[in-house]
Formats: sequence, structure tokens, C-alpha cells
Amino acid sequence: MAAPAAPPAPAALSALAESAAPAAPPAPDLAGVLVTSRPLDEYCGLFGLSRAALAAVPGPVLDCPAGAAGLAAEARALGCHVIATDPAYALPVPEVAARALAARTAMAAAMAARPALYPLPQHRPYDRYLRSWDRARRLFTADTEHHPEQYVAAALPRLPFADGTFALTLSGYLVFAYPELFDPDRQVAALAELVRVTRPDGEVRVHPLHDASGRRCPHLAGVRHALGERRIASEVEVFARAEDGRSRRVLVLRAADHRRRAGGSG
Ligand SMILES: C[S@@+](CC[C@H](N)C(=O)[O-])C[C@H]1O[C@@H](n2cnc3c(N)ncnc32)[C@H](O)[C@@H]1O
Repeated sequence: MAAPAAPPAPAALSALAESAAPAAPPAPDLAGVLVTSRPLDEYCGLFGLSRAALAAVPGPVLDCPAGAAGLAAEARALGCHVIATDPAYALPVPEVAARALAARTAMAAAMAARPALYPLPQHRPYDRYLRSWDRARRLFTADTEHHPEQYVAAALPRLPFADGTFALTLSGYLVFAYPELFDPDRQVAALAELVRVTRPDGEVRVHPLHDASGRRCPHLAGVRHALGERRIASEVEVFARAEDGRSRRVLVLRAADHRRRAGGSG
């Protein structure tokens, strides 16, 4: 993050970054992308995970993009080490928090205007749901002050991490959610980059596979074919949600030559 001043990173954390002395990232052009602030439990629901599964991940987890999520802060209590990355982190923390508050306001308006897009019981009442975003935003703001080394300013399709750094990589509400920013070639480049920074025996989970209007990506098969040509195996997994009986479609990516890790979804 741009502020506050970062204390020296512990050796284990600084080893995650590819460059010892990175140049200050340029001011991001977020092009109207919402900086959302979801809590850990919502992440679990989105990606077919559980708290127990996160606690059992055998290495660091990447959240890209993280926005103003509470994941890194909340996962620490589980013994799970999360690196959050987002181009917004080139901005001062109060500016990121202000954008997250604006995203919350935009989300409240969108939920009221288009209730058919937000029909799930856990969304209702909307205000209670969005209060979970408020808690996550406050956690994020406090955590960036105490653990700034876990918040890395970067933008897809180029991340400042060495090959195979993370045991699990999560990517929510970007690559397919904003097709106006990610055309098919850029989607493939971004997904391949997420796989590059993930261990060969790890996996990348991407959700949603639809845009902001709920329209499924029409060229997903082509994207998966292009990934296959890069020796990246892909599956669309459908994770049932115990709390409402609904399901989530998640794109799971792995290095093609590696077998699936046992007990992946927890
Ligand atoms: C809708 S939020 C999603 C955050 C979080 N994954 C979630 O599900 O709440 C989208 C985020 O993508 C970030 N973003 C915009 N362009 C990006 C890029 N090229 N690479 C990575 N993140 C980007 C924005 O700053 C914003 O925080």
C-alpha cells in the first residue's frame, strides 16, 4: 500500500516478491472497476472453500484482485497466510477505503434496482449483507497498517511474484466480470499469469464466469482451449452451497502435468 510507511518485511515474506527493491507502481487506472470489500466467509462461499480448507492449504494463498477484502486479516487467525494484491494499493489507504465505501453504495443501489440478480437468501436483507462488507472494509483498513507487507500493488496480466509462489490462488469478480477490460486474449494472459505464480501442485480458482449482468462468458470454451495450448488444465467445477442449496460455477486451473491435490475443496 502507498501508506502508511512499511516496516521491513520479514524474510519469509520478502522472499515472495520477485524484486528486492520494486519501483513505486504507477497510479492505477481502475476504469470504473468497483473496489469491493468481501469478508472471508463470503470468499469461502464464492470459491467452494471452507475455513477448514483454508487452514489446511499447504502454503501461501494469493488473493488477486483483493480489493478491500477482509480475507488476509481473517485468514491469519486460521494460520493461513494470504497475500492480497490489487492495483488500487498504489493509492493511499484512505483513498482505497473511500473507493470501497463508494462500491458499497453502488452495490446497495444495484441490489435495490435489480433484485432478480441478487435473489439468494444470504443477500437478504440487503443492508445486513452489506454490513458484512463494512466490517471487512474496516478490517482491511486496520490490517494494512499492521501488515502492509501482505498488500502488494500490482495489476494483471503481470504480477511481481516468482513462478510457483502460492499453494492456492483466488481470483474473484474481475477476469470474466469485466469483459470490457479483459477481452479474450487478455483473459487468457491474466489466467496464465495466475497459474504461473501458483505452485505446479496447487490450483487457481476463478469466479464468477459471468459479467455484471449475469451473462455467462460466451467464449469460455475458447479461453479454456487457449489455456490448454499453454499446458494449463481447466475444469468448471460446480460447488453446492450448504446454506441455500444453490451452487457456484468456479473455473479451476492447474498445471496440466500435475494431478489434483486430494481434498481440494474442503
Ligand atoms: C470487484 S473488485 C473484486 C475484489 C474481490 N476479489 C472481491 O471479490 O470482492 C475488482 C478489483 O479489481 C481490481 N483491478 C482492476 N484492474 C485490475 C487488474 N488489471 N489486475 C488486478 N486487479 C485489478 C480493482 O482495483 C478492484 O479492487
